[in-house]
Amino acid sequence: MIFRQLFEPISSTYTYLLGCEDTGQAVLIDPVIVCIERDLEEVRRLGLKLAYTVDTHIHADHITAALELKRMAGSKIAAPAFDRLPCTDVDIEEEKPLQVGNLTLQGLHTPGHTDGHFAYLLGDRLFTGDALLIEGCGRTDFQNGNADALYQSVREKLFTLPDETLVYPAHDYKDRFVSSIAQEKKRNPRLGGDKTLEDFKAIMANLNLPYPKFIDYAVPGNRQCGVCPADLPESLDQYCHQMTESPQG
Ligand SMILES: [Fe+2]
Repeated sequence: MIFRQLFEPISSTYTYLLGCEDTGQAVLIDPVIVCIERDLEEVRRLGLKLAYTVDTHIHADHITAALELKRMAGSKIAAPAFDRLPCTDVDIEEEKPLQVGNLTLQGLHTPGHTDGHFAYLLGDRLFTGDALLIEGCGRTDFQNGNADALYQSVREKLFTLPDETLVYPAHDYKDRFVSSIAQEKKRNPRLGGDKTLEDFKAIMANLNLPYPKFIDYAVPGNRQCGVCPADLPESLDQYCHQMTESPQG
């Protein structure tokens, strides 16, 4: 398998490019609209054809590139069926793995950060979205988030995968790239070790996080599979305007 971990610095989002070496088919997990050119260039450089984009959930901190990539590269839009988006080509359910060439992406419904959130398992790699971050997890106070549900998703679903499973999160804010199920079971300060549901709920209830500054634009835009709002204030311009090309320029 061809594998690339790509980073978008404004929302600290990781996008993952997975390519089938036999067929040349590829999928991007959680692509970001401001990184379209960079991501497409990487797909081309590797001699791949972008067959699908797939999102882990309806993001609140960036706009997905799904719709623009469909226009530009002809990729199909896959997203959790739970969210009933009107713009998808493939609705992901646990019973229906996504086939990309010879790669099989198994969806795992992992509610708690959002109610429709899915993680994706491919062999020994687990793309955890915002359900499980490296020594952290996504917040649970918006988008039908629920700390009880997230505790259950992580402890009873993700933590039952083999210890050596690699954990690739949708974000990292401290320059870390990858973890493992064993490491998160041991070291995650919210969900690991002997943390009980009550401990976790107390932690999540006392985070005192600020209101997400892009959420009111990102969520409606992402419910349309990635549309930048027309009324975007100038202060949020960087969330919709593409990063300038560097390599040949
Ligand atoms: Fe999120």
